[in-house]
Amino acid sequence: MKTHYPLTRRDLITGGITLAASGSLLTHADAAPTKDFSFVHLTDTHIQPELGATEGVRKAFAAIRSLKEKPTFALVGGDIVMDAAMVDRKRTDAVYDLWQSTADELGVPLYYSVGNHDVYAIGGSAPVAKDNPEWGKGMWQKRTGAKNRYDTFDFGGYRFVTLDSVQIAEGGKWWGEFDAEQLMWLDNLLRKTGNTMPLVFLTHIPVMTLFGQYTGGTTQALGEGMIVKNGREFVEMIAPYNAQAVLQGHTHVVEVCEYLGTRYITGGAVCGDWWKGKRLGVHPEGFNVFSVKGGKLAHRYVPYGWDAAKYAAKKQDG
Ligand SMILES: [Fe+2]
Repeated sequence: MKTHYPLTRRDLITGGITLAASGSLLTHADAAPTKDFSFVHLTDTHIQPELGATEGVRKAFAAIRSLKEKPTFALVGGDIVMDAAMVDRKRTDAVYDLWQSTADELGVPLYYSVGNHDVYAIGGSAPVAKDNPEWGKGMWQKRTGAKNRYDTFDFGGYRFVTLDSVQIAEGGKWWGEFDAEQLMWLDNLLRKTGNTMPLVFLTHIPVMTLFGQYTGGTTQALGEGMIVKNGREFVEMIAPYNAQAVLQGHTHVVEVCEYLGTRYITGGAVCGDWWKGKRLGVHPEGFNVFSVKGGKLAHRYVPYGWDAAKYAAKKQDG
């Protein structure tokens, strides 16, 4: 039911707290027709030869293949490899080869957002210079087949948008930000989409999270290495639209924040605490499964049963 449109973006932001608190006032415009389907959001695999990472990713993918929902595709939220940013060419090739051969086993189309560990040669021995087409996100695009660093596709009446949240510079520098060129593209895309078609966004670095509050303390603000520094601009931009979910990675926690009718869902991590156990001791290795039914999005986090301590003990035994 369309209750409050047209509202300006400013109305939505300044009235956000009241509207969100009253809940039922905040309804998106009448939904466009959709079909029922399922998809997976998997993020932060950090594949590497060490710590059982490859076996772990294989186990996660086997769990995805045996899901009763049968996902049509997977959104892959970045940090697929550990690492390409600060290492030499040999290590970069080794981890990307591992990713490509393992990803093939999933058997569904993959749509990617780049992670800060996926970019190539920004630091360390910096095996290629900035003007090399493989530098930075070039290597990631080559290895994943991503045509652009941000992109969009439609499925089942939904519009999916894969975002680039990672800005990079020589000297190993990276930070969370949506660049001006991308935001212009997004604004244009949203205008063309209109406010009835449901939207789902994929980002590596979170836009909305309480991570600082439960790790650093309740008054702790996050720096640009943990959250997109101009995320507010993005939140304002998507507010008038039927933005159902923003799928996030990077912090490896299982978390949902809801604001102005959009769920900001952090996908845990396939690797948990970088293949050393549960993240913060409580968030297990897993992925999110989404089901679309009647234009509504439901999701559940699925731990796939990886036990890092057991793997390490087994390895030691023999
Ligand atoms: Fe990560």
